[in-house]
Amino acid sequence: MIIAIDGPAAAGKGTLARRLARHFNLAQLETGLLYRACGLKVTRSGGDPRDVEAAEKAAKDLDPGDLDSPDLRSDEAAIAASAVATIPEVRNALLDFQRAFAERPPGGAKGAVLDGRDIGATVCPGADVKLFVTASVEVRAERRLKELLERGLEAIYSRVLHDMKKRDAQDTERAVSPLEPVKDAFVLDTSDLDAGAAFAAALEYIEQQSLSG
Ligand code: DC
Repeated sequence: MIIAIDGPAAAGKGTLARRLARHFNLAQLETGLLYRACGLKVTRSGGDPRDVEAAEKAAKDLDPGDLDSPDLRSDEAAIAASAVATIPEVRNALLDFQRAFAERPPGGAKGAVLDGRDIGATVCPGADVKLFVTASVEVRAERRLKELLERGLEAIYSRVLHDMKKRDAQDTERAVSPLEPVKDAFVLDTSDLDAGAAFAAALEYIEQQSLSG
């Protein structure tokens, strides 16, 4: 069983992916971490994440151990990730890793949950379930602000909202694999849903799907 979850930043994809993976006993891959690790690798070595050659090399050299760094959650990594993610050579280099994970999930799991921006469209177009998780940009900025403050970081709403809009624009307007729901995705707007309600709605959809399929 392959579950593909796509959607913009801070829409609740990660939490939903974790819950579904636990519920169905599936392996989980947060594909944004690959782009974050690649972006950070470039900036930390003094490079520009828009530099095609440096970014492609970082993507090709990525090793699973790079995905464990807590620094991947930083805004520095998010911004660098969004930049390297516009480069087709980087997307291509990361495709094999993602497809291999879906085809041969680690730990003997019977399937996988992958979340990102282009899972339903490009990485796993044949996924059994495709979800597009979204929420208004204001709600997502509030969630992101809360998360940053809880981590003891300094942040203000207007800045977080501005960054969120900038990243949305970069993710939706890029030429290659722009973020948009595929036709066969179930669109789940979590603006007025907490994590439990979003999980319940996704589960109801998946159960209905498996009854009708
Ligand atoms: O989900 P995230 O915020 O960790 O993703 C970081 C960036 O990586 C995001 O701005 C877009 C990019 N990304 C992508 O283009 N395709 C994916 N499958 C996952 C992430």
